Amino acid sequence: MGSLIRHPDILAAAQKELDSIIGRSRLVSEFDLNNVPLLQAIIKETFRLHPPVPLLIPHTASEACENADVDLKGTHFELIPFGAGRRICVGLRLGLRMTTLLLASLVHGFDWALPDGLTPESLNMDTEFGLTLERSVPLVARPIPRLAHDAYAM
Ligand code: HEM
Repeated sequence: MGSLIRHPDILAAAQKELDSIIGRSRLVSEFDLNNVPLLQAIIKETFRLHPPVPLLIPHTASEACENADVDLKGTHFELIPFGAGRRICVGLRLGLRMTTLLLASLVHGFDWALPDGLTPESLNMDTEFGLTLERSVPLVARPIPRLAHDAYAM
């Protein structure tokens, strides 16, 4: 969400993609996730730029690359946010589904406003090492509903 708020044009494009298959009268569901190539590319790019597990840092990309056709399930070594080989993450499918559904829900369901004085460009994207890679400064943003009122009832 931080990266998307920092790039409002990409956030708008992702919302447009979600609107085009879901509309604005219901929430996104798991069944929609195979039809959102832009959102999937955003997730891949975020895993590339901010690999969630710091021990994989030695495997981050050293130069810019096109990653649209790169799989992130451990067979393409250009992008291995879940590791690879015999010790690959056992929660890969659950983690990937949940990450995609959560991001799709936040992007489709809301516009995002930053606190007074903060601009998208000035958002601090620094990260810190811990058990997992975390933002140095927590993201604070205000969600503004953008779907039909009834869509949020469930
Ligand atoms: C976005 C979500 C997740 C990411 C990015 C992630 C990432 C990783 C990574 C990088 C590893 C190390 C793999 C290696 O050593 O090559 C790992 C291992 C592991 N993950 Fe995940 N994971 C996620 C979600 C989950 C979930 C939801 C579960 C359980 C339900 C899970 C359970 C495990 C376990 C048990 C291991 C150890 C596997 C082993 O050493 O044999 N992970 N994960």
